[in-house]
Amino acid sequence: MIRVCAVGEIPEGEAVRVESGPDGVPVAVFNVGGSYYAIDDTCSHQDASLAEGYVEEEDCAVECPLHATCFDLRTGQPGGPPARVPVRTHTVVIENGDVHVALSQATAQVA
Ligand code: FES
Repeated sequence: MIRVCAVGEIPEGEAVRVESGPDGVPVAVFNVGGSYYAIDDTCSHQDASLAEGYVEEEDCAVECPLHATCFDLRTGQPGGPPARVPVRTHTVVIENGDVHVALSQATAQVA
């Protein structure tokens, strides 16, 4: 499990990128209405940082900043092309006032 930041350091509707993890994959952690979600930061289509995408709070999704595929933050599933492969989701744990991420080892499955 990796510590991301203190609760409250990610404003609502925004995300942070965490440069860690045993497989070296950066993770994006989002605050959507006070709930936290973690997914792989790199888009499954090309090399874009999803933490820099637009958060659609009403859909609990993030829009990739490069080609605008929306990924569901709860499932990692892309809403439409050009991305067709989901991104991995990770478990967020709030502990002692800090946000932590338990990295998933599962490989993303093709939708
Ligand atoms: S890089 Fe994300 S949709 Fe193309």
